[in-house]
Amino acid sequence: MSTVHGDHAAPLPTTMQAVVCHGPRDYRLEEIPVPTPGPGEVLVEVEAVGICASDLKCYHGAAKFWGDANRSPWAQTGIVPGHEFTGRVVQLDDAARAHWGIEVGHRVVAEQIVPCWDCRYCDTGSYHMCARHDMFGFRGHSGAMASYLVFPVEALVHRISADLPPAHAAFAEPLSCALHAVERAQITFADVVVVAGCGPIGLGMIAGAAAKFPAEIVALDLDDRKLDLARRTGATRTINIGSEDAVALVREMTGGYGADVYLEGTGAPAAVLQGLNLLRKLGRFVEYSVFKEDVTVDWSIISDDKELDVLGAHLGPHCWPAAIRLIESGRLPMDDICTHQLPLADFQRGLDLVASGAESIKVSLIPG
Ligand SMILES: NC(=O)c1ccc[n+]([C@@H]2O[C@H](COP(=O)([O-])OP(=O)(O)OC[C@H]3O[C@@H](n4cnc5c(N)ncnc54)[C@H](O)[C@@H]3O)[C@@H](O)[C@H]2O)c1
Ligand SMILES: [Zn+2]
Ligand SMILES: [Zn+2]
Repeated sequence: MSTVHGDHAAPLPTTMQAVVCHGPRDYRLEEIPVPTPGPGEVLVEVEAVGICASDLKCYHGAAKFWGDANRSPWAQTGIVPGHEFTGRVVQLDDAARAHWGIEVGHRVVAEQIVPCWDCRYCDTGSYHMCARHDMFGFRGHSGAMASYLVFPVEALVHRISADLPPAHAAFAEPLSCALHAVERAQITFADVVVVAGCGPIGLGMIAGAAAKFPAEIVALDLDDRKLDLARRTGATRTINIGSEDAVALVREMTGGYGADVYLEGTGAPAAVLQGLNLLRKLGRFVEYSVFKEDVTVDWSIISDDKELDVLGAHLGPHCWPAAIRLIESGRLPMDDICTHQLPLADFQRGLDLVASGAESIKVSLIPG
């Protein structure tokens, strides 16, 4: 069965394969209706969707997504996961054309957050902290682990080169996030910047920090393969924290003072104390991780010992154009960052690959 939708000439299928979230550890591959875009909305055929550590935490039932004694659930069931995606415009009306400047056939990405445009955060440019906090693939709007998805009128849509492999284009999401963390750090030319973690986020932080041209970019990880990739992404020095003393080595390279900036992108509680110890007095600590558990440290390091600036960072507001430029520039080793592309039906294997982290950096699903 197929039908012709709106002003789109080619017939579209009426149903599609999709992963549907029914709750923690209950994601199912189902045949569901192809969504129909309403006025001002866009129907997009998905070309690639990345799986990220946040997808995995949602799948595993983390409190940030499903609530606990201190917070109500944020994620919703009945939603198609997938918030890092790229695809082709297949159907839109004149209002959508005018709103985003896009056309049938254009390759596009959309920011993961779908802002309300009506709260005090949206009103003042901080749309990434939108009070409603709808997000593709988690809450309010189905994501891209399906053949098609709809961009609602509130979405932030960007064009991206059709010449890129789809998995590379979908990397605009994690890269924009990493660039926001870099912006929070306000890196200067003289800084020694330490990046903890060389997964997709850490590698993006290294790429972004490199664009700021500081004195040194020191990458930390436990995996030599990832540290090698960190060098090719812009790190000037790498330290394997499994076999080397990162605190001692960074002190040595900074005349005993410590690093100016620490960008935390590991998801590992131990990396927090590591950063507090690595930094010099008056240093800047940027926290990007989402932790599975509470993290305990001596906060007097932040106050009495070092008078640190501790900065949180969330999503990639205003950083998408730069992330897209960076991917399109060809400066990043994208083939080595995008390690796995699997069919949609293998989503469970994809989640397992991300969980183990041993073989993969960025795992993507390719519907179709
Ligand atoms: N704040 C946000 O908006 C946001 C968005 C996306 C992802 N995240 C979070 O960012 C974090 C990183 O994401 P990712 O996809 O790159 O994760 P990842 O698991 O792929 O990479 C983490 C890396 O850190 C390394 N590592 C572990 N302990 C370390 C330590 N003590 N020092 C140095 N390296 C260490 C691991 O070996 C791994 O290579 C996750 O916690 C994720 O949930 C946050
Ligand atoms: Zn993500
Ligand atoms: Zn809002």
